[in-house]
Amino acid sequence: MLTQDQLKKQAAEAALELVAEVAGPDVVIGVGTGSTADLFIDGLAAFKGRLRGTVASSERSAQRLAGHGLPVLDLNDVASMPIYVDGADEIDHSLAMIKGGGGALTREKIVASVAERFVCIADESKLVQRLGRFPLPVEIIPMAREVVARRLAALGGKPVLRAGFVTDNGNHILDVHGLDIQDPKGLEGLVNDIPGVVTCGLFAIAGADVALLATQQGIRRL
Ligand code: 5RP
Repeated sequence: MLTQDQLKKQAAEAALELVAEVAGPDVVIGVGTGSTADLFIDGLAAFKGRLRGTVASSERSAQRLAGHGLPVLDLNDVASMPIYVDGADEIDHSLAMIKGGGGALTREKIVASVAERFVCIADESKLVQRLGRFPLPVEIIPMAREVVARRLAALGGKPVLRAGFVTDNGNHILDVHGLDIQDPKGLEGLVNDIPGVVTCGLFAIAGADVALLATQQGIRRL
């Protein structure tokens, strides 16, 4: 019986096989944030010298990449990347996701938007029939906390300020509990349109292109 950490490592290794297919001196790889992404970063160290570099979705991942001697580039200097590899808090069968458990959702969405393919790596426990059991992270401008919280409550959620947490962008996070997410794309648009919201952790309008889900029986590819 594999542990959850061993499953995460399997998913990360499956994504490294995709990196091997595209690696080259001009190639930049987009890198996500979280415990699964950390395992991917550790494996990516083997590609040192075989890539132009990486773009990180958080300061945490940037430090880990740099610790392995992998070049970390400014997104402003990168026009394209073949793949972006990241974990998820939940993913459904349409490959829509909830992300942002680590608070890096905004940079994750930005870096992912530049990549040709979003490769989601996770253990199979992240696969759900319907998104919403995991509280939806919403990055907000601090002065807008209460007005955004009222608007989220009007959408049926219970927003809770993530205590003592400041994002890499200097903002706060509201974790929204109790949302019944029947229409992930519609809700993503509604939440993102609230003034004061930087972005929400729904990745549905642009979801994953492929999910590599580690199971006790091996990798399940969606
Ligand atoms: C960070 C994220 C992560 O991808 C998500 O929280 C999953 O993390 P983990 O791989 O540790 O389960 O969105 O903002």
